[in-house]
Amino acid sequence: MSKMVACVNITITTILLVLNFITLVHAAPKVPCYFIFGDSLLDNGNNNNLNTTAKANYPPYGIDFPNGPTGRFTNGRNMADILAELLGFDHYIPPFASASGGNILQGVNYASGSAGIRNETGSHLGNRISLDYQLQNHQVTISHLVDLIGNKDSANLHLNKCLYIVGIGSNDYINNYLMPKYYPTNHLYTPSQYASMLIEQYAQQLKTLYEDGARKIALFGLPRIGCIPQELQKHNTTTCVNSTNEAIQLFNEKLKSLVDELNTNFTKAKFTYINMYSISSIMGTLSFLNKPCCNISKTTAGGQCVPEKTPCLLRAVHVFWDNFHPTENANIIAIMRAYDAFLPSDTYPMDISHLITSVSSL
Ligand SMILES: *[C@@H]1O[C@H](CO)[C@@H](O)[C@H](O)[C@H]1NC(C)=O
Ligand SMILES: *[C@@H]1O[C@H](CO)[C@@H](O)[C@H](O)[C@H]1NC(C)=O
Ligand SMILES: *[C@@H]1O[C@H](CO)[C@@H](O)[C@H](O)[C@H]1NC(C)=O
Ligand SMILES: *[C@@H]1O[C@H](CO)[C@@H](O)[C@H](O)[C@H]1NC(C)=O
Ligand SMILES: *[C@@H]1O[C@H](CO)[C@@H](O)[C@H](O)[C@H]1NC(C)=O
Ligand SMILES: *[C@@H]1O[C@H](CO)[C@@H](O)[C@H](O)[C@H]1NC(C)=O
Repeated sequence: MSKMVACVNITITTILLVLNFITLVHAAPKVPCYFIFGDSLLDNGNNNNLNTTAKANYPPYGIDFPNGPTGRFTNGRNMADILAELLGFDHYIPPFASASGGNILQGVNYASGSAGIRNETGSHLGNRISLDYQLQNHQVTISHLVDLIGNKDSANLHLNKCLYIVGIGSNDYINNYLMPKYYPTNHLYTPSQYASMLIEQYAQQLKTLYEDGARKIALFGLPRIGCIPQELQKHNTTTCVNSTNEAIQLFNEKLKSLVDELNTNFTKAKFTYINMYSISSIMGTLSFLNKPCCNISKTTAGGQCVPEKTPCLLRAVHVFWDNFHPTENANIIAIMRAYDAFLPSDTYPMDISHLITSVSSL
């Protein structure tokens, strides 16, 4: 057993060393623009000036990021950053909170830690920008784009060519349904009813995004939330919490069906589903990797890193950075499989590299 673990360890380290050679390149990007909606897995600073404990602009967050702590909820780059590199951008997409001027032509990141599909999700931690508000912020960007580009039709043609990624829903479980102390949803709905309700609201939000010109849209399913350190601690267990993973899978199945429905109804657009559940299957199978890398706060920002404490040294072999969020290396593996599927089950019906070339002659 220990030999196998050592072997897996070496393989993972080797893969990660290779992956670390991805760097920002200086050629035309594969799409002219790229917009990001979601939660802390994609947030790159939108919560920094909000009154919330769900923020990550302090050390040791960012210890492996060139600019140090920026509000990214990990040690280095998040999935949105690495995808920007894979797409050939020479910069990361700026957060809405500080994006300005011509920068917005190549995209904006609206993601906000603790945010959800539902407006109230995450409210016990403080303020956050729920998906409805992220879509309102996108309207603000669009009005600036119209000014920059000169007219509405040209701005719309530009928006048609962009990639849109949306990674939302985890907090509607972690910071809502699984927290009956603060939110009533657990008492009011069965897991199946709750998942249906979330998907119904999400469908409306995605329609809004489509009406705002989005045509290439990747939707991230939920990872194995039953296997994150926070859940294991809450349930005092070392193996994944099945009831949580079952609730998550109901959401994912409905999201995958929604992708079919959206592709049928909106023939001018392409939607694809990223199977984060299977991509995150390494969690739980290698439980020694599931220990968080930083020292975890038990007080206000429970589950996040304690400020200023030195984190673990072998960050490359950890899946989890804090009690909720993957390390940079786990982010690299996940987003590479979303971009260029490793297994057929990784994406449905296509990976992001095919999504961006799928909608012709726009
Ligand atoms: C921030 O939120 C907390 C808790 O909701 C509240 O007590 C505090 O007054 C708020 N601070 C500011 C500056 O709004
Ligand atoms: C959430 O907030 C947005 C923005 O204020 C609002 O338009 C929307 O109706 C709200 N959604 C719900 C379900 O209350
Ligand atoms: C957690 O589980 C362990 C081992 O099963 C047990 O010894 C311990 O008392 C439990 N702790 C709590 C707080 O329930
Ligand atoms: C949890 O799920 C796993 C995998 O599906 C299964 O093998 C295990 O028996 C389940 N445990 C419980 C307590 O239901
Ligand atoms: C797709 O179209 C069908 C038939 O008009 C409609 O019933 C359904 O609600 C639509 N679904 C979505 C997600 O737009
Ligand atoms: C976190 O810090 C406390 C206090 O310094 C220490 O006792 C504990 O061992 C640390 N935990 C980890 C995982 O480093």
